[in-house]
Amino acid sequence: THTDPALHDAIRELAAARNAVILAHNYERPEIQDVAHYVGDSLGLSREAAKTDADVIVFCGVHFMAETAKILSPGKTVLLPDLAAGCSLAATIDAAQLRAWKAEHPGAVVVAYVNTTAEVKAESDYCCTSGNAVEVVNAIPADREILFLPDMFLGAHVRRVTGRQNIHVWMGECHVHAGIDPEHINLQRAAHPGAEFLIHPECGCATPVVEAISAGAIDPKDVHILSTEGMIKRPQVSPVDEFIVATELGILHRLRRENPGKTFFAANDRAQCAYMKVTTLPKVLRSLETLSHEITVPDDVAARARRSIERMIAIGG
Ligand code: 13P
Ligand code: SF4
Repeated sequence: THTDPALHDAIRELAAARNAVILAHNYERPEIQDVAHYVGDSLGLSREAAKTDADVIVFCGVHFMAETAKILSPGKTVLLPDLAAGCSLAATIDAAQLRAWKAEHPGAVVVAYVNTTAEVKAESDYCCTSGNAVEVVNAIPADREILFLPDMFLGAHVRRVTGRQNIHVWMGECHVHAGIDPEHINLQRAAHPGAEFLIHPECGCATPVVEAISAGAIDPKDVHILSTEGMIKRPQVSPVDEFIVATELGILHRLRRENPGKTFFAANDRAQCAYMKVTTLPKVLRSLETLSHEITVPDDVAARARRSIERMIAIGG
């Protein structure tokens, strides 16, 4: 589905009438990003949800993001236009599995990536996103053991950048990012030798690329490991005009629109998250008309999960 101006206008009018704000993740369909009041990464969207004075938040993203918005804005109505918007990474660990893991490492500090259910966040000490994972881990005293979950590639990135050996990493992965391999990077390097790489730390290629830098095969100035919002900002300050983008394809819409003079190539042109694409304009309109599907989080779970998110926000990342 592509932009239908009448549908776009109907959504904006109904959103105004309901005092609703529409938030969209950088991986959403172009027409969803265009109808949203705010488009961003997980961290930016949670900040926006925390500060909005709208009565209703229509969350065009995946379920855990809508839960995070509800945790931060318990008095607001949070809507997810399609409940099928899940996340393969968040599904790799539940609260019972985390409790069992904690029991094996008494006293360890638990750092949960935002891609987790509210119940998992409630069992965690700190939340983090791809944009601030390193800062959050650096804020934890060096002698404390850390359980980092659920993404093994982000965990490896954090371990590498912080140099800490006392981080245990959960073996979860996102099927979309895990499928962006070193072979994709090698092919793209050969095709576009002057390009910079923008790599999301959830990618399967992140570790091999950093190893290639250490081995002298790739120039470190050509590689930027960034959250999706970091990727949006990089071209504006970069001296080069070509970029190879290793993350979900939805981000190309904003990259191209906001940087008309620059060229962007997908590292893997099949890196599509089906969960992010279930949200369509007709579903957003229906969501506003019927105030569905309302996302709720039990008060006790929300209160415990909120602590981990507030600790993250206090670090300022
Ligand atoms: P960020 O937008 O925080 O970089 O996260 C990427 C992601 O995979 C969200 O599902
Ligand atoms: Fe989850 Fe991966 Fe989709 Fe992000 S891209 S929502 S981590 S499945």
